[in-house]
Amino acid sequence: MLRRERRCSSKNARRFSYSDANVSKGITWSKDTLFEYLENPKKYIPGTKMVFAGIKKPQERADLIAYLEQATK
Ligand code: HEM
Repeated sequence: MLRRERRCSSKNARRFSYSDANVSKGITWSKDTLFEYLENPKKYIPGTKMVFAGIKKPQERADLIAYLEQATK
């Protein structure tokens, strides 16, 4: 199954049922990929099940990514 190819460090993350669209895209998440993805998740991963419209303002995306960096240290 495609899902097994995902590299996740946590067991919970591995159990999450990602869409094939998400898995096949094979993204390595970084500041740059998140910045592009969060503007419009459905455009970056066509067929994603993430029901989130995205964040249009570049400054708000940058702030969120800075927050995530701090919070996941
Ligand atoms: C600022 C808020 C959010 C951020 C930063 C965010 C970030 C992400 C990222 C990075 C992924 C890809 C994960 C991966 O494949 O490793 C993802 C997937 C997903 N997110 Fe979000 N997300 C947000 C909001 C939401 C909201 C509000 C929902 C639901 C109401 C949601 C539901 C999902 C789902 C279901 C997936 C899996 C999509 C798929 O497999 O195609 N997310 N999110």
